[in-house]
Amino acid sequence: MTQVPGLPDHASTGASLRLAHFSDVHVCLEKYPFRVRDVFSKRTAGWVNLRLLGRAWRFRHADNALRALAHDLDERQPEHRIFSGDASCLGFDEEFVTAADLLGAKANRAPGIAVPGNHDHLLRRTVQSGMFEQRFGSWQEGIRLDKAIYPFAQRVGPLWLVAVNSSRPNLLPWDATGSVGQDQLDRLARLLDQLDGGMRVLVTHYPVRLDNGKPEWRSRRLRDLEKLVGVAEQGGVVLWMHGHRHRAYHHEAGDGLPFAVICAGSATQTGRWSYGEYTIEGNMLHAQRRTFQPQQGCFVPSDTFTLRLASGLTAATAGA
Ligand SMILES: [Fe+2]
Ligand SMILES: [Fe+2]
Repeated sequence: MTQVPGLPDHASTGASLRLAHFSDVHVCLEKYPFRVRDVFSKRTAGWVNLRLLGRAWRFRHADNALRALAHDLDERQPEHRIFSGDASCLGFDEEFVTAADLLGAKANRAPGIAVPGNHDHLLRRTVQSGMFEQRFGSWQEGIRLDKAIYPFAQRVGPLWLVAVNSSRPNLLPWDATGSVGQDQLDRLARLLDQLDGGMRVLVTHYPVRLDNGKPEWRSRRLRDLEKLVGVAEQGGVVLWMHGHRHRAYHHEAGDGLPFAVICAGSATQTGRWSYGEYTIEGNMLHAQRRTFQPQQGCFVPSDTFTLRLASGLTAATAGA
């Protein structure tokens, strides 16, 4: 097990922890620096979706919402920030730079954890360049196995936040599926087995199920979902936090789900713009959603919900 230098010490002094969870901010550029090789790549399909099929319209106020989110996070000062992917629209470095800066990852301005979404790992060459991982570098620190990038685990007070990459490049324009891969699954099983006491929380991009309890669409699903759920269940995961779906929702454990699930939704899509602030006390998670108000230009409290997690804090694990 490799401890990456610079892992922040988030040891909590009490049994209460406040987290911010946001996702799918989808920063896009006014003008894209397309090169010839981009024309013959998945970026063209992404550009058509953005400019011709309505994505740009749905995210027409995203810049204002993202700046308001940055301000709200700085005001609220959560103890840790959780970003579940889709920083970009087309996986360009300029998009990552803006997202990482405003969300607080640049220069380790605020502690956090980040996983890529399918828009961030759009092309094989962007994955290989490690652009997302570089720009969100301070939110990529943690305990790893075999020097592989994913998964990795961060200790945050009473929790282990475990980042899993579920996004991968696809060739076909309509293919938005994800995959974790057998190698990462094997490492995840070993990592979960080696972590010491503390509630395990999985952070990934793809959902377990939709808001209505049904499986994700075939063209948008996680291909090895069953295997990942099995490894997570075996490894004692009590909560799965994700994005990908742009409307926020949550599920209690039960009814076939071995753990609770929270979808952050999109923080910047018009009409769906919100993020979650979670206070964890014992085995209870108290969530307050904060929703963007375009007239006021700020996020305000909206709905609340509570989830019971499978195992609570003990005096031994709290603050460990
Ligand atoms: Fe998204
Ligand atoms: Fe996505």
